Amino acid sequence: METASRIFGVITAAVLFSGCAAERQAPIPTASMSEKSGEDLAVLKRGYVVYKAQCSRCHEPILPADISSEEWHVVTPGMAWNAGISEADEAAVLKYILAAR
Ligand code: HEC
Repeated sequence: METASRIFGVITAAVLFSGCAAERQAPIPTASMSEKSGEDLAVLKRGYVVYKAQCSRCHEPILPADISSEEWHVVTPGMAWNAGISEADEAAVLKYILAAR
């Protein structure tokens, strides 16, 4: 009985969590994001636009907070290559992602 209710709780949590997943959005760059990160707001906005346009073409968006900064440093160059974006846009996307975490 104890076990059954625990399992039920886990299933309920999983359903609630996936319900929220549809609402997940990458944060829009703001002046305070720019201040905290020390990155130019125009660069963060460029990174955000490229991220929105390119980074959920092949898979569900992986949000800035989903993985660590270290992982983003490793993953982004390959994904920028996948997306076929310029080096400047790759740099802007990475700056945006790190600032938005
Ligand atoms: C042309 C298709 C394509 C585009 C465009 C693309 N991705 Fe991916 N992405 C993949 C595939 C395929 C995988 C899973 C296999 C892998 O890790 O290479 C993946 C995996 C990932 C992962 C998980 C990697 C891991 O090791 O867990 C992240 C994070 C990610 N993508 C971010 C991005 C970002 C950010 C962009 C935009 C710059 C992007 N992707 C654009 C195809 C793409």
